[in-house]
Amino acid sequence: MTSPFYKFYKKSREERLAILLKEHYLTPNDYDLFLNNKLLDDDVANALIENQLTQFPLPMGVAMNFIIDGEKKVIPMVVEEPSVIAACSHAAKMTLPDGITTKVHSRQIIGQIILKDVVDHKEASQMIDSHFREIKEIADNTHPSIVARGGGLKKIKTRSISDTSEQNFFTIHLFVDVQNAMGANIINTILEGVTPFVLELIQGASLMSILSNYNTDCLVSASCKVPFLQLAPSVEQGKLIAEKIAEASLYAKLDPYRAVTHNKGIMNGIDSVVIATGNDPRAVSAASHAYASRHGQYEGMTNWYVVEDHLIGELTLPMAVGSVGGAISVLPMAKANLDLLEVRDATDLARIILSVGLAQNLAALKALVSVGIQKGHMSLHASSLAIQVGAKGEEIEEVTKALRRAPKMNTQIAKHILNKLREK
Ligand code: MEV
Repeated sequence: MTSPFYKFYKKSREERLAILLKEHYLTPNDYDLFLNNKLLDDDVANALIENQLTQFPLPMGVAMNFIIDGEKKVIPMVVEEPSVIAACSHAAKMTLPDGITTKVHSRQIIGQIILKDVVDHKEASQMIDSHFREIKEIADNTHPSIVARGGGLKKIKTRSISDTSEQNFFTIHLFVDVQNAMGANIINTILEGVTPFVLELIQGASLMSILSNYNTDCLVSASCKVPFLQLAPSVEQGKLIAEKIAEASLYAKLDPYRAVTHNKGIMNGIDSVVIATGNDPRAVSAASHAYASRHGQYEGMTNWYVVEDHLIGELTLPMAVGSVGGAISVLPMAKANLDLLEVRDATDLARIILSVGLAQNLAALKALVSVGIQKGHMSLHASSLAIQVGAKGEEIEEVTKALRRAPKMNTQIAKHILNKLREK
C-alpha cells in the first residue's frame, strides 16, 4: 500500500491539508486555521510588539519522512529559502529505516548574578555554598508556581571572571529547572528576588542579573545511521559519498570560513522549526554559535564518520526551547504546530529541532560532495523567478517547468518564457 504522503509535494495546498486532517496530524480547528490563512487578531498583534503596523507573512510548509526515536513526524517549518524543506525531507528519507535517535543530556537554564568589587572571591564562594538553602527558599518564594510544577532552583555555581587589567568580577550561576517554558521570565524574576540577599552575604556591588542564553546545561543530541545504499544506487558509490561527507565534516572543524556556511545550513532547518513553534530563533542561534566555538575556534557543529557500511552523523547543541508560555501561548499557528508535532513537552520539541538540523546538514553535504548545490537550489528557485517576473495562477507552474528545462535560469529568461506563454 502506498503511503498517504506519496508525492505529497505534487499535491495542491488544499489536498495536503486534507491528507494531514485525514491522517489525524491536524485537528479540525488547526486544519481550518491553516486552510484559511488566519491572521493574528489585531489586539494580539498590537499587544505583542510596540508600534505594530501590520503582519508579515512567510510561507510555512512541512518536512516529511522523519522518524525520530521511533515516531513518525511531520515537521512544520517557516522559511523563505526555496530548497530548505525539500532538502530536509530528502535527507530524512536517507536516515531510514532506523530514522534519527536523540538524547536529552539535561535541561536547566542558567541565570547570572554578576558582581564587581568583591575582594575575596574564595570567601564569597564559601558564603554562597553555605547559604544554598536560604537562597533556594528565596528563589522558590519568588516564583512559587514553577516550584509547584516541579521546577525551581536546583544548584548554584560561582565563577571568578577577570581580564588582564585590575578589573575582576564575581559571578554566581543559578541553575533553574523551568519545566516546559523557555524560561527567560522565570529566571529573570528569580534573579531579581535572590540578588538583594546575595548582596547582604557578599561585600560587593551588583553589575547586573540576567539569564544566560549560553545554555550549556540544556544540551540535546541527535544521531543517525545512513546505509550507503541510501546515498547512491550502488554500495561503492554510496561509500565514496559517505567518505566525502566525513571529510567535509572534518574540514568544517578546521576552517571557520567553511564552518560558518556549514552551520548556516544547519540553522536553516533549526530556525525554521524554532520560528514555526513560536520560539526565539535569536536565542537559539546565539547559543548554537557559541557552543560551536567552545574549543576556542569556531567549528562545524556536526560530526560525520564512516563505520562499516554506514555513514554516522551526530549533532549536539544547547536547545532551550519551550512548549508553553510566552509567544507560544498567544500565537495560534505556533500552538497548532506543536499539536502537529505531537510534542508532549519542551524536550520533545528540542529533540525534533536537533533532528531537523542534522538532516538539513546531511542534505547539504550530500549535494555538495556529489552533484553540487545549485542543481537542487536552482530547480526550486525557478518558481520564485516565475513569481518575480509576474506569473500568476497556473502560469507559475508552466513558467517554472519551462525554466527547469532551460539551459540557464534568470529573470530575463523567465520573462521571455512568460511573454511567449501569454502570446499563445
Ligand atoms: C544554503 O542555504 C546552505 C548551504 O550553503 C549549507 C552548506 O554549505 O553546508 C548549502
